[in-house]
This record gives sequence, structure tokens and C-alpha cells, in this order.
Amino acid sequence: MSLIPSKFSKLVHSMISRIVKNLFLSFKMSSNSSERCYIDRRQINPAAERNKEPILDILRQYMISPQTTPPVHQVLLEISSGSGQHVSYLAKHFQWITFQPTEFELSSFESIIGYTQYEQLENVKPPLYLDVRDPACSWLGGNVKKESIDYVLNINMMHISEYKCAEGLFAGCSEVLKPGGLLFTYGPYAFDGKITPESNVRFDTMLRSQDSSWGLRDLTRQLVPLARRCGIRLVQVHAMPANNHLVIWQKAPES
Ligand SMILES: C[S@@+](CC[C@H](N)C(=O)[O-])C[C@H]1O[C@@H](n2cnc3c(N)ncnc32)[C@H](O)[C@@H]1O
Repeated sequence: MSLIPSKFSKLVHSMISRIVKNLFLSFKMSSNSSERCYIDRRQINPAAERNKEPILDILRQYMISPQTTPPVHQVLLEISSGSGQHVSYLAKHFQWITFQPTEFELSSFESIIGYTQYEQLENVKPPLYLDVRDPACSWLGGNVKKESIDYVLNINMMHISEYKCAEGLFAGCSEVLKPGGLLFTYGPYAFDGKITPESNVRFDTMLRSQDSSWGLRDLTRQLVPLARRCGIRLVQVHAMPANNHLVIWQKAPES
């Protein structure tokens, strides 16, 4: 019983700080009229806010600035950028990489642009439409060259979309990634037919009740064989907060 007042006050405190933060962001950006319309449309996805830093910490191990003169230009394609919180946060920390955000939902574009403008990022391109089920030759309006991408990032998509999206992701990466290029996928997974802990089981049930084609993908039984058929191997699985995993995949290097 004694926990109730403290839980309640925490909830009120978090609601107030969120409202104040939003007011502050709107006020700050409304001082720059040329950016106002986009900045005010930034969406805040609380899960992205929580997981962006742990994701950055792991990606630092894989995105190493090339020590060459002149510096090698690298490109990261993000599939399903959502609000744009990840692309803007990561782009700040990996300045030598050009980020291409993409979305299937056109309504997210304004938020992605809003974050890019707010952070004044020069290494983030405007978002482009991408349906991951389409053949890779038509991605980005047919303007993505075969084997031209260094990294592909895909966060929290495979379980909230039909399995065709997972198939399209690996098939597309086998086309667009350079030999040796990396694919990063993040989310909750099943392993060898099992989902743990109980909260992930409930999450999976909730997803499937919402749409029978959704649900946690099995890393061992579904995704590793799927990736292998596309010439992509599993490199590493990192356990992440809230029972998620960040999975590192690599397209076969040139033989
Ligand atoms: C839960 S949201 C995750 C968004 C963002 N990556 C994040 O973590 O905040 C799921 C995303 O999957 C995307 N999605 C669903 N179907 C898709 C498709 N066929 N092609 C590309 N993206 C798709 C949605 O547009 C949405 O952005």
C-alpha cells in the first residue's frame, strides 16, 4: 500500500516533465520560423527514447571510422525509420556516415525531417518511401545501386509486420549491401522455438491478436536459415534492455 503514493507521484512527475519538455521544444524551435512547421511535428516514441543509447553503445563496436586519406565515404540505409529519433541520434555520433532514412508510412516523414532539422544534421538525407516487401531494384525509386550500402539498420519492424517483411529485408540486403556489409536488426525474438520471459510471451500474444501475421520471429529457426539463403550470416547477438536483442548480420565478403 505504501508504494501507491510513490508510484502515483512518479507517474504525475513523468507526465509533467513530458509536457514541459514538449512545450520547451516547441518554444525553442518556434524561434526559427523556417523550421517551425517540421520541428513541431516531431513525434516522441518512448521506446525509441529509451533504446537509442543502448543501441548506439553497441553500434560503436561495428561502425569504426575508416582511418584513410581521403576518408572513405560510408552509407547507412535505415528501413522503417518511424519517428526519426534513431537516425538523428545515431547520425550525430557517426559523422563520417551518410544516413538515408526510409519509411513505409508517409505520415512519418515530417517527424523525421523535424528531428534532422532540429539537430542541424548535414549527414542525414531527406526520408524516402520504402516498402521492404518490394524487390530491392525498386527501393528508393529504383535509385539504390547494387552493393552500394555499407550498413542497413532495422529497428522493431520484423515482429510488427507480416513475415514477408522479414523475407524482403534479407533478400533486399543481399542486393544492396556491399560484400562484407553489415545489417543490424533490433527487437524481441524467439530462440529455438521458445519465447522468454513471460512478458515477451504476452507481447507476442497481443501482437498476434491484433494481426495474425504479426509476432516475434524465431532467430534460430526462421531468421538464420532465411539469412543464409540470402548469403548473409549471423555475426553476433547482443542482449539488450527490456528483453530485446540487437543482432549483427554480415553479407558474405567478396571471394
Ligand atoms: C514499431 S514501428 C518501429 C519504428 C522505428 N523503427 C522505431 O523503432 O521507433 C514499426 C515500423 O515498421 C514499418 N513497416 C511496416 N510495414 C512495413 C513495410 N512493408 N516496409 C517497410 N516498413 C514497414 C512501419 O511503417 C513502422 O515504422
